[in-house]
Amino acid sequence: MTVITSDRRAAADRQQQSGGMTIPELAYLGGFGNEHATEAVPGALPQGRNSPQRAPLGLYAEQLSGTPFTAPRATNRRSWLYRIRPSAMHGAFHRIENGLLRSVPFTEAAPPPNRLRWNPLPLPAAPTDFVDGLVTIGGNGGVGARDGVGIHIYRATKPMENRVFSDSDGELLIVPEQGRLLLRTELGIILAGPGEIAVIPRGVRFRVELPDGPARGYVCENYGAFFTLPELGPIGSNGLANARDFRFPVAAYEDRDAATEVVVKFEGNLWATEYDHSPLDVVAWHGDYAPYKYDLARFMTIGTVSYDHPDPSIYTVLTAPTDTPGTANCDFVIFPPRWLVGEDTFRPPWFHRNTMNEYMGLILGQYDAKAEGFVPGGGSLHNCMSAHGPDAATFEKASSAVLAPHKLDNTLAFMFETRMVIRPTRFALETEALQPDYDSCWLGFEKFFKG
Ligand SMILES: [Fe+2]
Repeated sequence: MTVITSDRRAAADRQQQSGGMTIPELAYLGGFGNEHATEAVPGALPQGRNSPQRAPLGLYAEQLSGTPFTAPRATNRRSWLYRIRPSAMHGAFHRIENGLLRSVPFTEAAPPPNRLRWNPLPLPAAPTDFVDGLVTIGGNGGVGARDGVGIHIYRATKPMENRVFSDSDGELLIVPEQGRLLLRTELGIILAGPGEIAVIPRGVRFRVELPDGPARGYVCENYGAFFTLPELGPIGSNGLANARDFRFPVAAYEDRDAATEVVVKFEGNLWATEYDHSPLDVVAWHGDYAPYKYDLARFMTIGTVSYDHPDPSIYTVLTAPTDTPGTANCDFVIFPPRWLVGEDTFRPPWFHRNTMNEYMGLILGQYDAKAEGFVPGGGSLHNCMSAHGPDAATFEKASSAVLAPHKLDNTLAFMFETRMVIRPTRFALETEALQPDYDSCWLGFEKFFKG
């Protein structure tokens, strides 16, 4: 059972139109993993069957399978699309330039054991759309093996025009840092800005428009099993990201007979073909394989009310599991505004070394483990067993702070945490944005031990 709800951001979103662009009125379906049903034209959705001899309104029925047909019910994802023309109506794809987009095997450079940190990448000088502006920072695993992730930055200064994109290699977890994205997908329209995330499943076509002008953010391309909600264990039946807060688009279609370039990422490379119409022509759909968004402000953050603080896994929004229990292909973790109340506790993140591999980004404000140098739009990489934690200034301050309850505000950092080493691209290691002096933030710790 699904309920159509107007998104609470929608009214404000429409009021903030800019650049002469009209943002359509948006509605969303609520609930992670629900069996949704939506039609843009009454009667477009067949009732009682998926594939009638003739689909209603002269539409074509098409199943989009995100998991094997035989996947267990709990993990099975598929949707039925009712569209103006079948997706199959196109000629051969041909290779196009990958630009700075990279994929496995990520062997351009030997991955260093060093801790790495980057300044924000500047927006491109020439008009660049979402696809052309993708820059790969690193990745791991194997596209073909359906394992690992690619980590990218997007930098878009113009909307995609007569062009749509889809990724056959994985689903895309998009984390806007600057400017909202209007994501016109096959299954409907999503508006997502800083403080929200959007997820586009493997193979779903979409076009990115820019209601605020230039946009920048992060992308985790998940080659493995799709992101899902983490188990809650003793937390119980509520908490962290609640299923009801995930928003899925209602059906919206384009009936446009105009040449449209369809770009596909396939086995690490970009390929393109041309349709003579917009393939965003799905008039109705039902199922549980669809793009969605989530407002990170709705995350129910859990922390200590006594002493110490839990492992950062307590901040997991979404997890992409592997066959090994508790070992994620990728966890998407946030560090949101929250109260710090721990008694006799070093409150910022502690020093640690971790078998998992951590790419961090900052959406806004300041991260509580770093006094400076880690800024919105930038990133850091702490790979397997690299020693990291608070910088010297943060350690000094937190070690002597008065431990009254304290609200950590104006902060929203995130982490893509993955089981395999994130292998940086050559670009990531050679760009001027790479900070040459990152190690120095951990120099100068005083020796207090007096044995
Ligand atoms: Fe860490």
